[in-house]
Amino acid sequence: MPQKKILIVDSDAASRNFIARKLQELDYEALQAGSGKEGLIFTWRDHPDLVIVDPAPSDIKGEEIASKLRNDPRTALLPLVALSSDHNPARIKFCHEAGFNDYITKSGNAVSMLSDAVSRLLGVTQEAMKQGGLMIVFLSAKGGTGTSSICANIAVNIAKNQPEVRVAVADLVFPVGSIAPIVGYQGKENIVTIADRSPLETDTEFFQTKLPQIEYWNFNLLAGSPDPELSNLLNVGRIWDIVSGLKASYDYVLVDIGRSLSKITLPLIQHADLVALLISTDVSTVSLTKIIVDYLKAKGVNPDQIYTILNRHAGLEGLSKREAETMLGIEVNTAIPYLGTNFGFANSQHRPFTLKFPNDTASIIFHDSARDMVDLAHKIRSQ
Ligand SMILES: Nc1ncnc2c1ncn2[C@@H]1O[C@H](COP(=O)(O)OP(=O)(O)OP(=O)(O)O)[C@@H](O)[C@H]1O
Ligand SMILES: [Mg+2]
Repeated sequence: MPQKKILIVDSDAASRNFIARKLQELDYEALQAGSGKEGLIFTWRDHPDLVIVDPAPSDIKGEEIASKLRNDPRTALLPLVALSSDHNPARIKFCHEAGFNDYITKSGNAVSMLSDAVSRLLGVTQEAMKQGGLMIVFLSAKGGTGTSSICANIAVNIAKNQPEVRVAVADLVFPVGSIAPIVGYQGKENIVTIADRSPLETDTEFFQTKLPQIEYWNFNLLAGSPDPELSNLLNVGRIWDIVSGLKASYDYVLVDIGRSLSKITLPLIQHADLVALLISTDVSTVSLTKIIVDYLKAKGVNPDQIYTILNRHAGLEGLSKREAETMLGIEVNTAIPYLGTNFGFANSQHRPFTLKFPNDTASIIFHDSARDMVDLAHKIRSQ
């Protein structure tokens, strides 16, 4: 494996050299920048795998460096560690909010804390995303297309088809998640509370034992944000290691991103084993979906990795499967009929559709689609 590059941004040369030496002893390549401006330039030019910043104000404050890097799609998910002599809790909070994954204070055990943080954060790499559980990301071009209900119903069918596997559903729809109300989860844990915990706490055991197992649904849920106010407090820098923690703990991780295609969610799509794209049958949604498909292709997503689900929930007057395929330029993998009020009824009782209406054709479609998606995801992973 090529040596990992770590950039140290610190205006204090002695401290920078000391950290660089320690990192070299750990077999990392250490790059150095003596100011915030250099730090930003070197990050974008030299593509380090991780950046350590002393956030003490030199020319640019550490928080500002972090938010600049987070707001640039090239570095939106780059692991960032603050290494600071400032113990002030308010400062630590600001740094987390600005996008630092970790904040380490320069104290007696700083080097060992730093080396733990570095190896943990660097574990979350492209190679790591190819290991662990298979990840299926659910998205749609428009809200209300049925993404969350279908994500939950596919998840329960994956678990039913293979009782020996562990399935997790992660709701990463912002500003408000919608899986919890569908499955009836009212507990306190959600993406915001979990992202707030120390990364040392959210290890594999945490994900396996502390994520609520949802009755009737046979999956564990990482609930979304319960309200927009909390969403604003989300430490987005943690999403990447939370998702990889889920992958290390479950056989299948289904992620609902709804219509929130953003710099935070795009990398998840790019690293997904399969992308489930929900489409409804009206012309405007199909046209918007075409834009999304073309965009994803331009971002390196292989069209064969996209599993399209035509959900006829708008009614019978919409486009046919063939017409949708012609407009989209890709095959539609499955079509779920309009289920009248039955789907809403199952959702409102917090039950899987297949459990409530086992003899409905749609239950067979959910069962078969879950199996096909799993087969396809396995096939793509093994390529
Ligand atoms: N095939 C269908 N037949 C009938 N109703 C459906 C169908 N698919 C979805 N619905 C209904 O549409 C509504 C929206 O579904 P859901 O919340 O899953 O969509 P969503 O795309 O996740 O929406 P949001 O953008 O709000 O997150 C729900 O009331 C659901 O019961
Ligand atoms: Mg939803």
